[in-house]
Amino acid sequence: MPKVKKVVLAGLLLAILIVFQRFISVETQILRLSFAYVPVIITATLLGPVWGGLIGVVADILGMLLMPKASFFAGFTLNALLTGLVYGFFLYKTPSNKSYFVRLVISVIIVHVFIHLGLTTLWLSIMYKRAFMVILAGRVIANIIEIPIEIASMYAIKIFLDKPVKKYLLDDPDEEDTENNTKFDPGIVDAVIKVWGANPGSIIPILQGIQEKYNYLPPETFACVAKKLGVSEARIYGVATFYENFSLKPKGKFIIKVCDGTACHVRKSVPNLEKFRKELGLSEKKITTDDLSFTVQTVACLGACSLAPAFMVQGGIPDKVYANVTPDQIPGILEELRAKL
Ligand code: FES
Repeated sequence: MPKVKKVVLAGLLLAILIVFQRFISVETQILRLSFAYVPVIITATLLGPVWGGLIGVVADILGMLLMPKASFFAGFTLNALLTGLVYGFFLYKTPSNKSYFVRLVISVIIVHVFIHLGLTTLWLSIMYKRAFMVILAGRVIANIIEIPIEIASMYAIKIFLDKPVKKYLLDDPDEEDTENNTKFDPGIVDAVIKVWGANPGSIIPILQGIQEKYNYLPPETFACVAKKLGVSEARIYGVATFYENFSLKPKGKFIIKVCDGTACHVRKSVPNLEKFRKELGLSEKKITTDDLSFTVQTVACLGACSLAPAFMVQGGIPDKVYANVTPDQIPGILEELRAKL
């Protein structure tokens, strides 16, 4: 994830958190419901436990300095740190919406039981010199009401914000290039040639080695390899375009090879292919996502016909073959892969 965007996002969520903590809350006779949990959970989900804890601490200290409501008590700052850490630990890089929901339920319950009811009650009993159990009794009902409200609202927010936020975070071509290793480095060609030897009989493994590094053959490859092997650029280009396995266009970090051989075709591989394309905004002509995360292509046979319909995902370690998959399972599989980006 681009670092600048990370900082901008954290700054924005910090400002929202301070506003929520200091100005916005719903008060009833039974409880005072603050929405401060929203930016904390969003931060922890998108940026991880350290940022989740940090934003809570900074908001607590800044809010106290700029708009003091009561005297400073370090215990509440510790609560803010622990809350962000717990949410980040459970919610950062969750593989699917289903698992996000389960982890959300667990983390919200932990935060309410151990931090809000346990620690906060302890700090209040110290501050106001009153018995722990007396204060606790008055806080239990409020927390029981807050738990389902937080879970339902945060899950709805997660579903609603998922796509626009991911698009914002990935929409930075310069940083993507660095992350996807698409800038040409002659040193890589030297290293591959050192392994296979500088002779024209090694053109194929040399090109394979370069493609392994970049996921495709950058245009500079042909002149560079030709010069080092003492052959014409046209010869290198001819080999690269003759074999289907070589690609002259950048490919995604994950290459999804959907089998459309006979066995897979009759067992409905086409709906799977269409579902991948629909989910990723791809088509028969546009096979790679703009953020270079995914490439979707078809292959004639994966050698796994008894598992039809099958597809293979390259780019994870190791490559993985998925068998007997139906279109409704594909969004979950993509979520799992996105978590590894
Ligand atoms: S036809 Fe799909 S794996 Fe063989």
